[in-house]
Amino acid sequence: SDVPLVLGIETSCDETGVGIVRGHELLADAVASSVEEHARFGGVVPEVASRAHLEAMVPTLERACETAGVTLGDVDAIAVTSGPGLAGALLVGVAAAKALALSLGKPLYGVNHLASHVAVDQLEHGALPEPCLAMLVSGGHSSLLRVSDVTGDHDGIVPLGATIDDAAGEAFDKVARLLGLPFPGGPHIDRAAREGSVTIDFPRGLTSRRDLERHRFDFSFSGLKTAVARWVEARERAGEPVPVADVAASFQEAVCDVLVRKAVDAAVTEGVEDILVGGGVAANSRLRVLTEERAAQHGIRVRVPRPGLCTDNGAMVAALGVEMVARGRTPSALNLPADSSQ
Ligand code: KG4
Ligand code: ZN
Repeated sequence: SDVPLVLGIETSCDETGVGIVRGHELLADAVASSVEEHARFGGVVPEVASRAHLEAMVPTLERACETAGVTLGDVDAIAVTSGPGLAGALLVGVAAAKALALSLGKPLYGVNHLASHVAVDQLEHGALPEPCLAMLVSGGHSSLLRVSDVTGDHDGIVPLGATIDDAAGEAFDKVARLLGLPFPGGPHIDRAAREGSVTIDFPRGLTSRRDLERHRFDFSFSGLKTAVARWVEARERAGEPVPVADVAASFQEAVCDVLVRKAVDAAVTEGVEDILVGGGVAANSRLRVLTEERAAQHGIRVRVPRPGLCTDNGAMVAALGVEMVARGRTPSALNLPADSSQ
């Protein structure tokens, strides 16, 4: 058939993902995570992640094929995350993808990780709304992008802003640690916040009139993290208990408020009618509600894939691979580099 069957490989961080997609149909999404090996370090350790990818790659690949009920010979193209991400982690996925492309005689597509977080939405909601404003929030990135062509061709992906220090997910993880919650902290803060109320007015980074002049669509979360740390320390010094749920709710509100404020402002400024949210933090329940609420005030629609598709996986890479094939993009050469910083 002319609907492409694409296998996607993702190894930019701590998830080894192999996804198989036919058109907009998700056939398999096998993910092996090394998150537990990193937990005691409070963050992802690159060397540990690379070794884990090497061990998980072939079993994950086999699991994906089995679930999808396809053999490697059925696949029309191989897509792989070529960056951004941890260099050593990316290399494992890129090397595996090259080996497959070479041995199967199928085209290879190196794809951008951020664009994949956007493309994955079509597995749930159908054809992407282009142009749209993408808000990508995860442990490694917090970006606002104008997406008119998800394959990146013809300046189809224009970065409007990004974090100038910590990523949103990183802030969630650091504050969780401060509150004695396990890593990764985002889901724990989300859960704790539901039991608390927004009682503390934590700072909103880069929202002063002066900051907005230079950083209208940029984010900063390190000042917020420090403010939470100081607040908690002051409590402890006074010998008073820390109201974990209220701190979690107040911190989460500060993060979501700035993210949504700037995303809606960017969408309105760019004149787009859809906001697409992606990345691990898109699983946050408050972020989902607030984005819907404020976007609706401007007649803007919001698309958020289900949480399992928001975190890193191989299906997102395959989904973008399908667009590369369908839109006739040129395959990558077999000397495709991994670009950790692109
Ligand atoms: O996209 P992802 O799986 O990996 C990266 O590319 O970073 O995102 C992981 C991040 C972690 O920082 C995690 O704490 C955060 O997403 N996260 C959440 C929630 N679920 C995951 N943050 C806030 N609320 C959540 N419900
Ligand atoms: Zn990601």
